[in-house]
Amino acid sequence: MSRPVQNLIYDLEQLGAKGTSDLQPEDRVLFAEFREFINLGLIRCAERDAKGQWRVNEWFKRSILAGFRLGQLMETEGYAGTNFFDKHTLPTRRALHLTNKVRLVPGGSAIRDGAFVDEGVIVMPPSYINLGAYVGKGTLVDSHVLVGSCAQVGERVHLSAGVQVGGVLEPIGSLPVIIEDDVMVGGNCGVYEGVIVRERAVLGTGVLLNGSTKVYDVVNERVLAGTSEVPLEIPPCAVVVPGSRPVKQPFGEANGLQIATPLIVKYRDNKTDASTALEEALR
Ligand SMILES: CC(C)(COP(=O)(O)OP(=O)(O)OC[C@H]1O[C@@H](n2cnc3c(N)ncnc32)[C@H](O)[C@@H]1OP(=O)(O)O)[C@@H](O)C(=O)NCCC(=O)NCCS
Repeated sequence: MSRPVQNLIYDLEQLGAKGTSDLQPEDRVLFAEFREFINLGLIRCAERDAKGQWRVNEWFKRSILAGFRLGQLMETEGYAGTNFFDKHTLPTRRALHLTNKVRLVPGGSAIRDGAFVDEGVIVMPPSYINLGAYVGKGTLVDSHVLVGSCAQVGERVHLSAGVQVGGVLEPIGSLPVIIEDDVMVGGNCGVYEGVIVRERAVLGTGVLLNGSTKVYDVVNERVLAGTSEVPLEIPPCAVVVPGSRPVKQPFGEANGLQIATPLIVKYRDNKTDASTALEEALR
């Protein structure tokens, strides 16, 4: 890269602090440089420290919002005679080459420019990897998956068919959704609102997690929940499946109502490893 990361971050901090009327055409050059640094994996939205704590880079999110404000609608060519319209500052990533060692299977998937996709990632169609997202080495992004803006997905993660990983751009200081290394996310799961799924955890088919979800850990007899300051965290190796609990309020009780609540039924063992093993030949 032509200049040190710290130097770029300094300029991005200035960019993010600008009001819309202060934005200049030359800021688009800086925004393009921002996207290129993300493409190369040199900067990212959130980082994990040695103690395992995740910290959000607010300048990163502010830069993305500035990019939206800088953009005007532009027409781009689609497949055989179709066309698309989007902000000209937010193009689809073209700088993906054989040397990136990513398999992007044809058929309606897109990676927005300014998303990092590491070697060995497989993207099955149709899937979408949005601006600011990070997808680590060897991760499988199966069909109908959304990796939302700024979402941080680790290495060797399995995002099964239909998984939705929410994007979190605002509020600016909030952590994006974080899925750590070697997590298995079963089909049709949804992870939203800055939830952290720690390494090697397993989300069984159809588990939904957001900032308000309470997760009942039946192994350790505790209830896990986020607060306005601290996000919900799924512990390492937890095996989470969809569950329900009775509604205690009188009307609920009278009608036998239940409310959805994910349960940690066990922590990963050999059987879980066998149920979630990835087929090497497909890589
Ligand atoms: C979670 C999962 C990996 C199973 O893990 P496992 O360690 O083999 O789990 P076990 O079979 O030991 O089950 C432990 C307990 O949880 C229950 N359980 C397991 N998975 C469950 C699920 N998805 N929903 C409800 N209950 C579940 C089992 O019935 C068992 O209950 P019991 O102790 O009362 O008998 C599997 O259920 C799953 O969801 N896999 C994802 C499949 C998928 O979506 N693939 C996508 C392909 S595109």
